[in-house]
Amino acid sequence: MLKDVLTITTAGSVDDGKSTLIARLLLDTRSIAEDQLGVTLGDDIDPTKIADLLDGLESEREQGITIDVAHRFFDSDSRRYHLSDSPGHEQYTRNMATAAAGADALVLVVDASAGIKPQTRRHLDIAYRLGVREFLVAINKIDLVNYSKKRFVEIESDISALFASYPEATFAAYPTSGVGGDGVVKRGPRLRWFTGSTLLEALDRVSPRRSSITGATVSVQFQTKAGAKRRYFASLLGGTLSAGDVLVIKPGNVTATISRLWVAGAESRQAHSGDQLCFEVVEDRDIPRGAVLSTDPDVTLSHEWDSTLIWLDDEQGYASRPYLAKLGHQVSRITLSRAWTQDTVGEKAGEISTLETNGIYRTVISAQQDFALAPFDKNAPLGRFILIHPETSQTVAVGTVNFSLRRSENVHRHLFAVDTAAREQASGTKGSVLWLTGLSGSGKSTIADGVSQQLHAEGRVHSILDGDNLRTGINRDLGFTPEDRVENIRRTAEVAALMADAGLVVIVSLISPYRQDREQAREIVGAHRFREVFVSTALDVCEQRDPKGLYSKARKGEIPNFTGINAPYEEPTTPDLLLDGARPIQELVGEAIALIHRE
Ligand code: ADX
Repeated sequence: MLKDVLTITTAGSVDDGKSTLIARLLLDTRSIAEDQLGVTLGDDIDPTKIADLLDGLESEREQGITIDVAHRFFDSDSRRYHLSDSPGHEQYTRNMATAAAGADALVLVVDASAGIKPQTRRHLDIAYRLGVREFLVAINKIDLVNYSKKRFVEIESDISALFASYPEATFAAYPTSGVGGDGVVKRGPRLRWFTGSTLLEALDRVSPRRSSITGATVSVQFQTKAGAKRRYFASLLGGTLSAGDVLVIKPGNVTATISRLWVAGAESRQAHSGDQLCFEVVEDRDIPRGAVLSTDPDVTLSHEWDSTLIWLDDEQGYASRPYLAKLGHQVSRITLSRAWTQDTVGEKAGEISTLETNGIYRTVISAQQDFALAPFDKNAPLGRFILIHPETSQTVAVGTVNFSLRRSENVHRHLFAVDTAAREQASGTKGSVLWLTGLSGSGKSTIADGVSQQLHAEGRVHSILDGDNLRTGINRDLGFTPEDRVENIRRTAEVAALMADAGLVVIVSLISPYRQDREQAREIVGAHRFREVFVSTALDVCEQRDPKGLYSKARKGEIPNFTGINAPYEEPTTPDLLLDGARPIQELVGEAIALIHRE
C-alpha cells in the first residue's frame, strides 16, 4: 500500500536554524544515512556542517523556469512527507513563496534566543495569502536558552498575538532543538516540562489541505502515439479520475471520455489527486500540451483576470510590462495591465504603476493566450501562478486568481470580409513596421525622414510614428519614467500594428530604451512584419550634436531620467539591422530601404 503523502514547507529568517532542524528530521526518521552527516542518532549535530550536507542533497533542485526549491522526502510511521524547501543559503522570500504555494502545512521556524523577526511575519503573511492554513511553529534552538520553559511560553504568547490577524489559520508552537534533537522526532530528556507532542507527531495529525475542487482536473504535459492511439501524459491536479469519466477540454470546450489510464506505469481503474498519469480517450481528439480537462464548473478559459500578486523580484515591476505567466503546465506572455495597493481586508486601495519588492497588490493580468483557470478558493491548483521575467527566467512574482474578468468563450474577434491581404493588394504594399531605436540625437528621425522620402518617390504608402510628435497627441499624458515609457511604446506598437493591417509601411522612431518593451512591440505587431533597426551612435557623438540642447540641460541636472545620462539605454543584441550612425545619412537610408524591399 502506498503511503499517504503530505506536502510541507519550512520558512524562517536566516539563522533561525531551519537547515539544522531539517537535517534532524531527515536523520532521526532515518531518511538519510548517518554517515552522510558524520554523526549517529542521538548525537548533537554541528550546525556548521549542515549547509554543506543539504547542498549535497540538492541534486533534485529544479532548474530554469521553475524555481529554486529543493525537494526532500522523509517518512514517519504513518506517512511520507514531501518537504519542498527553499535552500538554506538562499533564503529569499521568492523561493519560500513558491514552495508555500503548493504546501499543505508550513513549519515556521523561530529562533528561541531571538524571538519573532520581521521575516517571520512576512513568511506567515505570504503563506496565508497563498492559502496555507495549517501552521506549526518550531520554537527552535531551545538549547541556546537552556531548554527554558519560561522563554518558550513568552514566545508562544507572541506567536498567539501574531496569529490574531489570521483568523482562519490553525497553529500551535513546539519547542525544538535541531542540534540536540529534542522535540523534533524524539521527545528528548531536556524537554520533560513540555506536555505537548513532538514536531513530527504534530505533523502526523495535519490533514492535507482542504481542496474544494468539485471534480477531476487534469493538466496535460504532452502526448505520444501508442500505435494509432494518442496517449497523454498528465497530472491529476484534483479529484479522482476513472475510466468512463467524461471531462470538458479547455481550450475547445469539447468533451473527452477516458477509455484507459495508467498510474506509475501500471494500468489502473482510478487515479487520485496528485498522481502523474497516462490516459487515452474514446474520441479522436488532439489535446495540446497545457490543456486542462475538467469536470469542475469553476474552470473557465480566460485571458484576463483579477489577481492578488506578491512582487518578489529585487527590481521593481511596472504595470504594462510584459512577463511570462506559468499556471500549471500553461505558459503565455502577459502584461500587468493595472495594479492597486490593498487595504487591510484585501480590497483595492490606490492605483499604482510600480510594484515594489515584497509588496502585495491587487492586479489585472492580461494574457496573450487563453488560460484554463479558476478562482483560487475554488480550485487551488488552477488558481495560482507565477510570473517569470522573459529574459532572465527568474520568478518575479507569485499570484492567486481572484476571478476571471474576460471569459474568452464570450469574446469573439469579428472577422471582416476585406482582410489585410486584400488591403495590401489594393495598396500594392505589404504592411510592415520598421522600428528605429537609439539614443536621442542618434539620427533616428533624420533616417526616418530619408526613408519616407524614398518610399514616397516609389509611390509606396507609408507613415511615420515619431516619439516627439506622438508625445504631442496620443501620448501627451506620458513622461519619461520607466512605466510611462512602457506605455508609450505599447501604444505606439498598437497603432503601428493597425497601420500595417491597413497595408502601410510604418516607420517608427522612438528611443525605446528597454529591451523588454521592444520585444513586446514585436509581439504586438507580429514578428513576421517587425524589423528592429538599431541606430548605433556613440553617446559622446549624440551629446556633441545635441540638436535640441537637451543633453546640456540633462548634464546640469535639469532633466530627470534622461536616456544615456541618468536613465539606461539597453542596446539591442540581435537587431534586424545595425546602422552605424557615424556613416553618411544616404547610406543609412539605403540600407533601411533595402531591408524593407527584402520582404
Ligand atoms: S521613449 O524612451 O519613450 O521611446 P521617445 O522616443 O518617445 O522616448 O521620446 C524621446 C524624445 O523626447 C527625445 O528625442 C527628446 O527630444 C525628448 N525628451 C525629453 N525628455 C527626455 C528624457 N528624459 N529622456 C529622453 N528623451 C527625452
